[in-house]
Order: sequence, then structure tokens, then C-alpha cells
Amino acid sequence: MASNTVFRFLILLTALVWILSADNPKRRRREPWTNGSWFNMGLLEFEEWTNQTDLFSDKSRMCARLRGLTPGQRRVCRRHKDHMPAVGDGVKKGIKECQYQFQNRRWNCTVTEDDTVFGPLTLIASRETAFTHAITAAGVSLAISRACRDGRLSSCGCSRAARPRHLHNDWVWGGCGDNLEYGYKFTEGFVDIRERERKVKRGSREQGRQLMNRHNNEAGRRAVIKKSQVTCKCHGVSGSCSLITCWQQLATFREIGDYLRDKYEGATEVKVSRRGKLRLSNPNYSLPTAQDLVYLEESPNYCIRNESLGSLGTTGRECNRTSAGIDGCGLMCCGRGYNTKKIVVKERCQCKFHWCCRVDCNTCVKTVEVYTCK
Ligand SMILES: *[C@@H]1O[C@H](CO)[C@@H](O)[C@H](O)[C@H]1NC(C)=O
Ligand SMILES: *[C@@H]1O[C@H](CO)[C@@H](O)[C@H](O)[C@H]1NC(C)=O
Ligand SMILES: *[C@@H]1O[C@H](CO)[C@@H](O)[C@H](O)[C@H]1NC(C)=O
Ligand SMILES: *[C@@H]1O[C@H](CO)[C@@H](O)[C@H](O)[C@H]1NC(C)=O
Ligand SMILES: *[C@@H]1O[C@H](CO)[C@@H](O)[C@H](O)[C@H]1NC(C)=O
Ligand SMILES: *[C@@H]1O[C@H](CO)[C@@H](O)[C@H](O)[C@H]1NC(C)=O
Repeated sequence: MASNTVFRFLILLTALVWILSADNPKRRRREPWTNGSWFNMGLLEFEEWTNQTDLFSDKSRMCARLRGLTPGQRRVCRRHKDHMPAVGDGVKKGIKECQYQFQNRRWNCTVTEDDTVFGPLTLIASRETAFTHAITAAGVSLAISRACRDGRLSSCGCSRAARPRHLHNDWVWGGCGDNLEYGYKFTEGFVDIRERERKVKRGSREQGRQLMNRHNNEAGRRAVIKKSQVTCKCHGVSGSCSLITCWQQLATFREIGDYLRDKYEGATEVKVSRRGKLRLSNPNYSLPTAQDLVYLEESPNYCIRNESLGSLGTTGRECNRTSAGIDGCGLMCCGRGYNTKKIVVKERCQCKFHWCCRVDCNTCVKTVEVYTCK
């Protein structure tokens, strides 16, 4: 009898706690910290959403539905909803470029299923992690700068950068340029806010990681500015070039990717000091500039599959038998050797052009050898 009462009381209490915790607005406002990444935005197909007319309206719940954002990033999102497709596009470009730059390496920038996007690898403060931060920050910076120029965002337009001093006196400055300043500033606000939101112990590993991420995000943004160029165009009757206008223009993303790949090769190992500053891990290294990438931990060798490290291993990867580089079978297969497979490819050959307009070809069959790591 007594136990029955107690039992009922317990059920009531549980229900009450459940209702309170679900409805308490204070509790709801304190959003959980995410261990996912805003890189998720690069996996979204924003184009599929854009026919929802109220997507960017005040009422829209878009920012709450984006995965991997921190509370601070959600705040920025709510203020600048119309920027989010450009952010997503920038991350997408960043991931694609990363996969291009690393296609022939042991780590090839594989995207995983989970919310971290690059998998457990992101927990290691390695060069590869440094690169992912730089290339995505660069992608977003570029996408926002261009979106401003194209008039796709409500809060910015063409660049208002000052006329470069070395520009020829007769040339007109002020064609509608890519808005690099705005792209830089917005990206800094949206991306770096993650690394400032959480209080961590000074000199701790977490703080080192925050400083590292901020440094590499900055390097990515600067790469965009560094590779941009003043571009000019002739006007006038039939190319007479009586008028020349010039503006600031972004580089292609490939140029920026190549530049950051070089920075990856020359990345500097650092450590966090007890006072909470990044220091060289070896005093013989030269100091990294704001353009350089930094990392805190050595990379795994990515040779063997290790799920907890996020390393896929190189078994089954294609390699180049004659190359002595990282794409060669020696390094790629980590000394395990390789399998040779002959495959038959059919291609069009001996094509003849007939006037007009027909092309006739034969089909040629050739065998090529493909080498894959054991
Ligand atoms: C993310 O957080 C959840 C819950 O705290 C945890 O189970 C999961 O392992 C975390 N994922 C990573 C990659 O750290
Ligand atoms: C948006 O367009 C796609 C195809 O263009 C369609 O499948 C989808 O249902 C549309 N969404 C809304 C909300 O209209
Ligand atoms: C720095 O360079 C000096 C001279 O080349 C060398 O003796 C020393 O071992 C190096 N220090 C470290 C930490 O590598
Ligand atoms: C994966 O790597 C971790 C950390 O280096 C190591 O402790 C573990 O034994 C490895 N697991 C396998 C299956 O090799
Ligand atoms: C990247 O590597 C993984 C495993 O190492 C492999 O399954 C995948 O096909 C590779 N991707 C590309 C684009 O080569
Ligand atoms: C393999 O490497 C050699 C030497 O670096 C290079 O000339 C060749 O084009 C590469 N082959 C492929 C298929 O990439």
C-alpha cells in the first residue's frame, strides 16, 4: 500500500521534471555545444531550398535547422540569413578543392557520414586539419566576396576599395569589384566565433587548438586577398581602348588551392605556452607569418586502417609505379607492395572529319596496367 503511493508519487515527479525541463524557456535557450562542424553546410543542397519563399524571412527557422553550428554561429546566421547559401557554396568548393589537391596522397580528404564531416581526424591537431580549416575559410571568403559583387546579398555590394597607388593615372578605378573586405570580415565573424565562444583553461590543449584554428582560418582568408589581382578592361569603339577601367578581382579557387597546398607543405609545428600563446616547438624553425599554416600534433601515417584515428589506410588505393613521390607505389603503399591489374579500355581513335559535318571514328582497344596497394 505504502509502496504503491510512493510509486505513484515517483511517476508524478518524473512527469513533472520532464514537463519542466521540456518547457523551461531558460533551459531551451541554452543550446548545447556541438561537436559537429559547420562544414556540414557544404554538404547541403541550398538550391533545393531556395524555392521556399520565406526562407530568409524573420520567421524562417532555417538557422535552427542547420547542423553543426555553435550558438554564436546561429546568432550570426539569424542576422544574415541570405548569406547562408554562399557560405554553403564556399564550404562545398573548399571540400572539392581539398579532394583535388590531395587526390594522390595517402590522406585524400575523404568526407565521412558523421557531423564532423572529416571524421575523427579533426580531433588531431595535424597539418591536414590545418589545411581543412584554411581551405574552407578561403572558400567562404571567396564565395561571400563574389556574392556581394553579384548583388546577391542585402548588406553589401561592389567593392569600395581605395584606388591602388601604382595604377596608371588615366585609368578609371571602380568597376564593380569583388568585395574582398566584406568577405574577409564576414568570414572572420562567422567562422572564428567558434573559437572564441568557449572559455578554456589558458595553456591547455583546448586553448592551443582554438589558437591553431584561428591562425589557419586567417591564413585561408589572407590567401584569398593575396591571390586577388587588379584587373582592367578596354572600352571604346571596336577595341580602340579609349577608356580603361580597373577593379579588384578574385583569383580562381584553383590558384588559391595551389597556394594553400604549398603552405601545407611548409606548415610549422607549434605548441601552446603556459601563458596561452603559440610558440615554435623547435626554436630553430623560422616564425610562421599570418599567411602560414600551423599545427600542434604530428599526423598519423595514414598507412593502415584505424577507425579511431579516422585513417582509412591505403589498401586498394591506386598508385604510380614509376613515381618516386608521394603518389608512387613505394610511399603510397607504405612498403607493402602493390598488385598489378591489366584492364582493357576502349576508346575512339583514327577519327576522320567529313565535310560537313560528320566525324567517323574507329574503336581502338588497348590494355593499360593499373597498380593498387596491397
Ligand atoms: C559527439 O558527442 C557525442 C555525445 O557527447 C559523442 O557520443 C560522440 O562520440 C562525439 N563525437 C565525436 C566525433 O567526438
Ligand atoms: C522546390 O523545388 C523542387 C524541385 O524543383 C521540388 O521538388 C520541391 O518540392 C520544391 N519545394 C517547395 C517547398 O516548393
Ligand atoms: C638547433 O640547431 C642547432 C645547430 O644547428 C643544433 O645543435 C640543435 O640541436 C638544434 N635544436 C633543435 C631543438 O633541433
Ligand atoms: C589506432 O590508433 C590508436 C592511437 O594511435 C592506437 O592506440 C590503436 O591501437 C590503433 N588501433 C589499431 C587497430 O591499430
Ligand atoms: C580516397 O581514399 C579512400 C581510402 O583510402 C578510397 O576509398 C577513395 O576511393 C579515395 N578517393 C579518391 C577520390 O581517390
Ligand atoms: C607517374 O609518374 C611519372 C613520373 O613522376 C609521371 O611522368 C607519369 O605521368 C605518372 N603517371 C600517371 C598515370 O600519373
